Amino acid sequence: TANANRAGRTRNIVEKMEESGKNCVIFYGSQTGTAEDYASRLAKEGKSRFGLETMVADLEEYDFDNLDTFPSDKVAMFVLATYGEGEPTDNAVEFYEFLTGEDVAFSEGNDPALENLNYVAFGLGNNTYEHYNSMVRNVDKALTKLGAHRIGDAGEGDDGAGTMEEDFLAWKDPMWAALASKMGLEEREAVYEPIFGIVDREGLTPESAEVYLGELNKMQLEGTNKGPFNAHNPYIAPISESRELFSAKDRNCLHLDVDISGSNLSYQTGDHIAVWPTNPGAEVDRFLDLFELAEKRNNVISVKALEPTAKVPFPTPTTYDAIVRYHLEICAPVSRQFVSTLAAFAPSEEIKAEMTRLGNDKDYFHEKTGPHFYNIARFLSAVSKGEKWTKIPFSAIIEGLTKLQPRYYSISSSSIVQPKKISITAVVESQTIPGRGDPFRGVATNYLFALKQKQNGDENPTPFGQTYEITGPRNKYDGIHVPVHVRHSNFKLPSDPAKPIIMIGPGTGVAPFRGFIQERAKQAKDGVNVGRTLLFFGCRKSTEDFMYKSEWEEYQEALGDKFEMVTAFSREGPKKVYVQHRLKERAQEVNELLLQKASFYVCGDAANMAREVNAVLVQLIAEGRGVTEQKAEEVVKMMRSTNQYQEDVWS
Ligand code: FAD
Ligand code: 2AM
Repeated sequence: TANANRAGRTRNIVEKMEESGKNCVIFYGSQTGTAEDYASRLAKEGKSRFGLETMVADLEEYDFDNLDTFPSDKVAMFVLATYGEGEPTDNAVEFYEFLTGEDVAFSEGNDPALENLNYVAFGLGNNTYEHYNSMVRNVDKALTKLGAHRIGDAGEGDDGAGTMEEDFLAWKDPMWAALASKMGLEEREAVYEPIFGIVDREGLTPESAEVYLGELNKMQLEGTNKGPFNAHNPYIAPISESRELFSAKDRNCLHLDVDISGSNLSYQTGDHIAVWPTNPGAEVDRFLDLFELAEKRNNVISVKALEPTAKVPFPTPTTYDAIVRYHLEICAPVSRQFVSTLAAFAPSEEIKAEMTRLGNDKDYFHEKTGPHFYNIARFLSAVSKGEKWTKIPFSAIIEGLTKLQPRYYSISSSSIVQPKKISITAVVESQTIPGRGDPFRGVATNYLFALKQKQNGDENPTPFGQTYEITGPRNKYDGIHVPVHVRHSNFKLPSDPAKPIIMIGPGTGVAPFRGFIQERAKQAKDGVNVGRTLLFFGCRKSTEDFMYKSEWEEYQEALGDKFEMVTAFSREGPKKVYVQHRLKERAQEVNELLLQKASFYVCGDAANMAREVNAVLVQLIAEGRGVTEQKAEEVVKMMRSTNQYQEDVWS
């Protein structure tokens, strides 16, 4: 409804702050949890260092037409990630559209409207993308234009350079200084104040019906939830098929078909599916063991917010095991700021001193953590040389770690061919770490791999001895299931099937193009006139990682000479051959197709490939049309802004 958010709370931020006695709100626009994490860190730091009364707010949960009544003695912070091609994150779309709209109208009608608003801004972006940090830049511009006053610089974090965390840390100290001076705040000795209270529920056991054991969708398991299924409410979908597309020594490629026929979920070719992973058993054990929670793992506890604006990030009563296994990102890299916070709880003075140094000294921290791929438990254990960490309040752990995040996959099927079955194509990698017995592995990909192993009748869920909870809490999943939701994307085939398309998709980047081509093959079979369909695919060797090899032949049969697959095998000859080299070889045809308004698609690695493809395209347009590079660059920019050039890339 208009005046209340999902949980029936007010959507009026000014009112909310007034009634809860807050003078600092930190709004976040977050897609993968990092911006949300930074927002809660700012909230904690503002409170502990400066005594600010802070609250964190999801942009989606508030309205902004009364931002002009925001009191001048309070401050609003905006932590904003840019997603995809310069877009706001899903939870920030409405805010963004409101603020940057043609005729943004506020309740009071003052001019300038936001004269009383003091704000702080930090953006999370990736410089390998075309529209680097455009979200924070545009919001900052819009706020300034409306008369609001920024305190300190607008910070920008760069995931592309891998410096996000350090960019954030480097930005926040001058920001705090500027804010303290503006608001007359006095810095004090930081004290840890828990946000959550942990209450033992001795009368309850894990068998008690009201105890939540980490079910991502308890109501659905009980048969009482029929959706809608979305980012707040994943659908626990059966996996109807799973197989390996190739298996090499350090990489496996999986194909999974997720059955959504039991739900009202739908998708369109080119959309993304989000997978909600489970942490591997061995890491859950390591984590619980380090904090001496292993014996208590199945004790029932309630987690309560100790202040009115905080939200417990999972349902309770629950158990330590369930929280760690299903809800916390326990395998991710350690943040230097969290290390500082944890120093106070070190098992000895010596370890405390080391933690303080690690927290304060950027170079020392990176030297010590750099090559190890430590997660939090491995890191702390390395610092304490195996000694247990028993003094950390569990609340500090919940506050300090990100929520376990869903991972996105480009759907690799066509919705007109299989509307109720979503295909995923995922590469599972393992990385050897010097001096460590077991390799590093990603959370979601290995979870999917374990599901595949289990479905194919292998008792040991992964060949690397990583075990996962497959059957779900209370053994409720009969068969192999995965919690998912669908995210709609703008990566779409032209509405007219007769239009030509050019697709660049090396490696897993081919995923959405399998969907595109599946769709065109079906259309051709149905007698529809289908345009030229040109795919550039690259992999290491034709005999090693050439995924869907036999399927492409089937599509060829259906599409005839409309379809052509150009391959680049990078490790077969003396020199590396990549998709962009092949693109260059086809310069003339590509130019002709583009002049016929062919759509141009790039999918896969954002860091290098997408950028190099862009550069080659500029080059071949310049040469083919006899224009300067500068002019060709403008042509490509125009192609992007008119959606003739579309990217679906990740790093
Ligand atoms: P994670 O555990 O999330 O780790 C990811 C990486 O982070 C690691 O490889 C490592 O470099 C780093 N890392 C993690 N933990 C640590 C640590 N403790 N120390 C140091 N470094 C660490 N992937 C596909 O395979 N197919 C697709 O079709 C596909 N489509 C995508 C579409 C979109 C829009 C996006 C955003 C991503 C897509 N991805 C796709 C990538 C996918 O979402 C995942 O990022 C990928 O599968 C890895 O997830 P993971 O949980 O296994 O790895
Ligand atoms: P390589 O690993 O042999 O270098 C899928 O991963 C394919 O993409 C592989 O053949 C890989 O080659 C190739 N690849 C690696 N870097 C690339 C880049 N910058 N541009 C295009 N393809 C690349």
